[in-house]
Amino acid sequence: MSLSKEEIEREIRRHPRWHYQFDLAGVRTPIHQPEWVNRHRQRKRYFFDPLAEAGVFEGKRVLDLGCNAGFWALQAVRAGCAHVVGIDARASHIEQAKLVFRVNDVPEGKYRFIRDNVFTGDLGSWGEPFDIVLCLGLLYHVCKPMELLERVSRVNRDLLLIDSTVHNDPRSMIVLRHEPLDDPRMSADYQLVFLPSPAAVHDMAVANGYACRTLPPAFDDWEGCEDFRDGDRYAFVCSKHSSLAGVYGDTTAPPRR
Ligand SMILES: C[S@@+](CC[C@H](N)C(=O)[O-])C[C@H]1O[C@@H](n2cnc3c(N)ncnc32)[C@H](O)[C@@H]1O
Repeated sequence: MSLSKEEIEREIRRHPRWHYQFDLAGVRTPIHQPEWVNRHRQRKRYFFDPLAEAGVFEGKRVLDLGCNAGFWALQAVRAGCAHVVGIDARASHIEQAKLVFRVNDVPEGKYRFIRDNVFTGDLGSWGEPFDIVLCLGLLYHVCKPMELLERVSRVNRDLLLIDSTVHNDPRSMIVLRHEPLDDPRMSADYQLVFLPSPAAVHDMAVANGYACRTLPPAFDDWEGCEDFRDGDRYAFVCSKHSSLAGVYGDTTAPPRR
């Protein structure tokens, strides 16, 4: 049964913080940082749209790690995936994602949102195998990036898309940082988190059976995207089988070492 406008407004208000500006049947979610409307638009153009436009999501099983309110899972559905599973450690995000999917009339059999920690969750219960895994905005919020990629590789039969803040250094290295657990965008377990350099992301992906390419960002508006502009964040497209030749054009990766 669809929700009335008043019910949607009430459901939106139940959540103190929205990471995205969704249009839920004409009601906009109040995005916490307004300049991030552009950030999410640019990120989508940068690493998601080329895959979607090439038809890569069609009929595929997708896993979205650190799914938050389901923004990327919804893009996967719009790009024609057969099924998407979203995992997030925070109950409020899972509730937001379920609301977003309900209001968007996504058939219930097409998705699952599960509250789980990506490290302790039972991989077998998530519905493997997955053709495409989205690891967006998550890798630098964990302290076991290699273990995360190991777990991903176990359930992923082809593509892994990583979008991560990085330590801007040409060497393959990881820097240890601390971040607050009470920020809902950040780590869900340890305050200690590991920030990999682009080369370290590449090396960890290769060690787990992927070919890995760093995508240079070419945004048409850098508002809210200064980290991408300054070399502090990249997307990495990792593949076990698909060549993805031509999908991202002839752009060259930034220097690694
Ligand atoms: C910065 S947000 C990224 C959201 C979205 N993937 C994106 O790229 O726009 C990170 C998300 O990962 C979740 N998260 C952090 N650590 C996690 C963990 N160990 N297991 C599951 N989810 C986690 C947070 O709750 C948050 O929703």
